[in-house]
Amino acid sequence: MIPVCEPTLKGNELNYITEAVKSGWISSSGKYIQKFEQEFSAYCNTSYGVSCSNGTKALHLAIEALGIGKGDEVIIPTFTMIASCNAVIYAGAKPVLVDSELDTWNIDAEKIEEKITPQTKAIMVVHTYGHPVDMDKIRIIADKHGLYIIEDAAEAHGAEYKGKKTGSLSDIGCFSFYANKIITTGEGGMVVTSNEKWAEKAKSLRNHYFGHPRFLHSELGYNYRLTNMQAAIGLAQLEKIEQLVNARRQNAFTYNQFLKNVPGMTLPPAKEWAKNVYWMYGLLVNPDFGISMPLVREKLEAKGIETRTFFIGMHQQPAYRKNDQRFPSLHSSYPVADELTQKGFYLPSSSHLTKEQIIFITDTIKEIYHENKQ
Ligand SMILES: Cc1ncc(COP(=O)(O)O)c(C=O)c1O
Repeated sequence: MIPVCEPTLKGNELNYITEAVKSGWISSSGKYIQKFEQEFSAYCNTSYGVSCSNGTKALHLAIEALGIGKGDEVIIPTFTMIASCNAVIYAGAKPVLVDSELDTWNIDAEKIEEKITPQTKAIMVVHTYGHPVDMDKIRIIADKHGLYIIEDAAEAHGAEYKGKKTGSLSDIGCFSFYANKIITTGEGGMVVTSNEKWAEKAKSLRNHYFGHPRFLHSELGYNYRLTNMQAAIGLAQLEKIEQLVNARRQNAFTYNQFLKNVPGMTLPPAKEWAKNVYWMYGLLVNPDFGISMPLVREKLEAKGIETRTFFIGMHQQPAYRKNDQRFPSLHSSYPVADELTQKGFYLPSSSHLTKEQIIFITDTIKEIYHENKQ
């Protein structure tokens, strides 16, 4: 089976983690944490990095660092992974859903203003599957209404908007380092920002808000700490980030080359202002392909090719719908998100995928198409 995604761990990961164990620094202090935070935030072109135990917690820390909580509203795309929405709820705020646009699969800026109320405090954008959001449009709306912008860049390490890195395109950015991400720490996350006050607040929240004296806590905090062992892996990954990003992009170009003439397949977005890092290589299966997306996936699976469906919109989630008083935007319609869910899936996307594997996968897709046309 060609897996949908695997980490590429072929550098100093084992050396650094061994060194961390030998040094005895295996919890959340140690040289790798500091180095990883400094180097990853510098990579994003931001001044501060606050590591934490996963991307969901990075989002939670970012929202609370901005002072957003009970009674506040945060605008998010309904088409996202549930962590973006859960983080808003964990902070006690209300998610307000907005549909996406078909040509980038990201939040539709044209549909944001109608959702803004006096309670709105922030717009959270998600750079879906590695393609950045058109941030200038978001910035105009945020400035007009005095809103913060939060980037959920969990899927977009190294992606660029008009030459600037994700994570630096807003007030505060959040990354995940889960094993399927472009760089990984196993589990892990980071908040990046150039605002010292928010970085300090995120740090305090991450570590129980220890104070002066140490065991006097002025705010409710959490244990969301990353370990030195995880940061050791992260640092080794960071040494190869350009290679990993380039490999993801090259794989996508190869997929494009072999799929561009297949009728009924929409290839992933690539706007002229965007550097898409193709965290996952997504496709839409349209009616003129002849068979539906689930059937295509089934046939690929039978040939040993693992795939995944796109997200299911937040407005469709049973976990939220049974609690819908808190969350009225669940009941609007989100036709683009629904269309993406119905048609979208992604192909194997590991950085170390080979050209031969991509040719096998794309040949199989072409066979499925022709089989069906006979
Ligand atoms: C868009 C998005 N946001 C947030 C997360 C959460 O990250 P984590 O799994 O590290 O908590 C993910 C994870 O896959 C994601 O895809």
